[in-house]
Amino acid sequence: MASPAAGGVVIVGSGLIGRSWALLFASGGFKVKLYDIEQQQITNALEIIRKELKSLEQSGSLKGSLSAEQQLALISGCVNLAEAVEGAMHIQECAPENLELKKKIFAQLDRLVDDRVVLSSSSSCLLPSKLFAGLAHVKQCIVAHPVNPPYYVPLVELVPHPETAAATMDRTYALMRKIGQTPVRVLKEVDGFVLNRLQYAVIGEAWRLVEEGIVSPNDLDLVMSDGLGMRYAFIGPLETMHLNAEGIVSYCDRYSDGMKRVLKTFGPVPEFSGATAEKVNQDMCMKVPDDPEHLAARRQWRDDCLKSLAKLKQKAQPQ
Ligand code: NAI
Repeated sequence: MASPAAGGVVIVGSGLIGRSWALLFASGGFKVKLYDIEQQQITNALEIIRKELKSLEQSGSLKGSLSAEQQLALISGCVNLAEAVEGAMHIQECAPENLELKKKIFAQLDRLVDDRVVLSSSSSCLLPSKLFAGLAHVKQCIVAHPVNPPYYVPLVELVPHPETAAATMDRTYALMRKIGQTPVRVLKEVDGFVLNRLQYAVIGEAWRLVEEGIVSPNDLDLVMSDGLGMRYAFIGPLETMHLNAEGIVSYCDRYSDGMKRVLKTFGPVPEFSGATAEKVNQDMCMKVPDDPEHLAARRQWRDDCLKSLAKLKQKAQPQ
């Protein structure tokens, strides 16, 4: 629970990710102000949040020690940015992924805030050196990149600007822990951060394997969902190495020649178009037709699976 003296949190942009952050911060007992450019957007967001809180409570998945009603009471809307940020200790920007728009928002915030608040962006891939360039409060700026859906997938990548103060990283790290998320410190900014670099490495090789006629799109996905992914939900690739031999050193002794041999055969960056795109699209659409209803139903199923997995992971914590 947040201490009553602690300042609140401001969410700038009340879309999918803004609403998720609002739920997470309220679950930690923080007061949340939702800001957006239009009153209607905020009204809609508050209504979606109310329904989500009720449904989370009914399904026994509500986070934190407060009831849905108590959490809802912590969240309010505000269409005036200056009023919203007054006395805030953390501002989480969740506007659309557009550098110029986000730069404008941070320039606005830079003029409004004092030197105590943390200015954090949810950006998936915009580099902090671009987002926060020239801000007076750059030391207080950081990217806190969540993973969709953040309520069930706890990872948050924390990515500093070269001038971000260590205290900003530490405070954001502690805050994420407090609301039950799993922060990781990206020590230096890099394009794609860490999560998307790993994801793109996998997607790139998956695409090449299909392109070269080695495996069908559906079987490729099974290799991950019923193979590698089973382990990766609990241990990462480095711990996998550690456990698959008598420790890392033994793994490298045994397998590094084989790994290097295979890695040298990886092809160039795919184009993600043409005949391979058609083939992948055909297989994916056979499984999940790409109209809004089927996609939404499959996403709901995915989120339900992630909800169950999150519960299992909580139980499976090593003693
Ligand atoms: P969204 O489109 O659902 O929501 C964006 C919200 O920002 C809307 O409510 C819009 O009215 C509001 N907005 C537009 N201009 C604004 C302004 N000038 N000031 C304040 N609010 C403004 O977008 P979504 O998906 O929530 O993404 C937000 C951020 O989170 C993006 O940077 C995205 O890259 C990042 N992100 C998205 C993930 C996803 O899976 N959707 C996952 C992780 C990060």
